[in-house]
Formats: sequence, structure tokens, C-alpha cells
Amino acid sequence: MSSQDIPEENLPAEQEHAHGAVGVADEKHPFADPGLPPHEHRIQDIDERAAKRSERTVALLFTVSMLATVAFIVSYVAIPHDKPIYVFPIGHINALNFALGMTLGTALFTIGAGAVHWARTLMSDVEVADERHPIEAAPEVKAKVMADFRDGAKESALGRRKLIRNTMFGALALFPLSGVMLLRDLGPLPGTKLRHTMWRKGLMLVNMNTNEPLRPSDVAVGSLTFAKPEGLEEHDHEFQTEIAKAALMIVRIQPDNIKDKRELEWSHEGIVAYSKICTHVGCPISLYEQQTHHVLCPCHQSTFDLSDGARVIFGPAGHALPQLRIGVNDEGYLEALGDFDEPVGPAFWERG
Ligand code: FES
Repeated sequence: MSSQDIPEENLPAEQEHAHGAVGVADEKHPFADPGLPPHEHRIQDIDERAAKRSERTVALLFTVSMLATVAFIVSYVAIPHDKPIYVFPIGHINALNFALGMTLGTALFTIGAGAVHWARTLMSDVEVADERHPIEAAPEVKAKVMADFRDGAKESALGRRKLIRNTMFGALALFPLSGVMLLRDLGPLPGTKLRHTMWRKGLMLVNMNTNEPLRPSDVAVGSLTFAKPEGLEEHDHEFQTEIAKAALMIVRIQPDNIKDKRELEWSHEGIVAYSKICTHVGCPISLYEQQTHHVLCPCHQSTFDLSDGARVIFGPAGHALPQLRIGVNDEGYLEALGDFDEPVGPAFWERG
């Protein structure tokens, strides 16, 4: 049905300026402006039942979007990550990826399709001819734009077509949940995990090379020994994660040569234990200069003085290496007397 088939009296009143000005050819403008073709009214403008049908179609599309978003969330939670599915003609693919792609695509597509169908069939259908004008808008033009915007908002009939409004808001409100669900893939929140290592009171210091618990007599003056916590084995699932925080450097310094009072208190007979993780960007420190008690990070040459609280004496590191308080247990082995009292490692923990 087109507007030509509609009785004249049922047609909406013709809009002012709808057809634009028809120009006349002259010497300056050899081609006459033909103006706009006659305006064709949409079926929804003249038949309320057709308008209702369009309204239901738009609402249906927004509702499908809501269902697709819910299906996305359900798929994300319910489908195992490693389940395959056969899809013709692609073949075997991951069922979770397929379901997430289909539901997310459907949710987006139906929001878009609903908005387009709404605009094409129910929103104001006015043809406007506007003259070209300078780019900078005059104040009255800006005022007109604002007025047009308000008119447009009014003509979109959001207030009158409550079904569309409510379903559209529902679809738009639910859709971002898909993104929120994906945040779960970032893994659990670290909580305070990064602030602590596995060191705790009573854990023995184990030589990283021999895998044997260390006695004070195993640590000679001038040597550098690397240690790990008792019970942490290389085949452990969490080994890399834990050793990246808990690795220790053990050195023995003549107690008289220890300048820092707390360092002396936290040592045992001059044996001091410091984090092996550089406080710049986390490289493992490995070079020890026994005359000066300096340790050097090979990455960017940060240098720490182990006889003076491991303070930074050169390089980009921002703060001293954390010290582990140690003692000796009843069986004569070196043991931790607690965890580090500050986070180990690099700039994330800079205390400003
Ligand atoms: S990581 Fe040690 S100096 Fe940069």
C-alpha cells in the first residue's frame, strides 16, 4: 500500500518546505534546481494498525537482544572452556566461543535492527530542504538546532510508546553485562597476595643449589648463597609464582661491619638474608662484591649495600632490598622469624 492508494482526506497535512524551492535556469545557473520529488507517506503515518505492528516488531527486536544477552551470560557460566562442537560448514570449533559469538552478535544486531526499524517506520518522516551556509553557526542557528533536537526527542514518541521505550532501555541496560562477565577472564583479584611471600615463622632456609636446609656453618664470610623456603619444590605448580617473591640472598658479614642497627638485630651471627628480587623492575640479583658487601643487579646496574640495610647506592632502584628476619631453630638450622615486613620487588610497590 502506498500513499497513492490512500484517500486524499486520510493523508497527513503537507509539511511546510517539504519539497524545497524549485529553481529557474538562467545565465548564472544554467541548470534549474528540480526540487525534491513529491513526498511519499509511509503506511505507518496513515494506518495506526501498521504503526502498532511496527511498534511490536521493534519491541520484539529489543526483547530478542535482552534474551541474547542473558543467553551470553548463561553460556559463559555453563559451557566448559574445552568443549568442542561441530558446526557445518566450519567443522569442529570451541563450543564456548561459538555460543559467546552468536549470542553477543545477536544482542548487538537486534539492538541495531530495532533502532533502525523504529527510525524508518515510526519516527518523524519530514523532508527538509536547507540552504548551504557558512560553517560557523549563527546563534539563532544554534538555537534552532536545540529546538530541533527537542522536537526530535518529542517526535520520537518515547513518552507515548512506552513498550518501545521500556524494552529499549532493558536491552541497553542488559547489554553491558556481557562485558562485565568477560572481566572474569582477568582472573581472581589478587587481594593481599602480592604483599606477602610464603615465608613465615619457623620455615627453614633451604639452599637453592643443594636443596638442603642451611646451618650457620654453611655460610662462609664472603660467600653469596641463594635460598628458598622449606617445602617449596621445583615441581610444585606454584613454584615460579612463589620463588619470584620468596627468593633470598644470604651473606655473612662480620657483625662489626654491619652499619645498620636493625639489620644487625635481624641477622644471626652476622648472617643476613635479603630479598633477591631487585626493587627496580624485579630482576634477580646475582653479583656480590665481598670486599664492599655490595650486590649488583645485572639488568640496570642498581647497586645495594648489604652492610647498610641494603640501601641503594647506585642505579635506578627506588628503595632498599627488604630484609628477612632470621634465627636458628632447635636443630641448629637457619629459620625465618616471619615474613618480610614490606612487599618485595619493584615499582608497583613504590611507596612514593
Ligand atoms: S631491575 Fe635491577 S636495576 Fe633494573
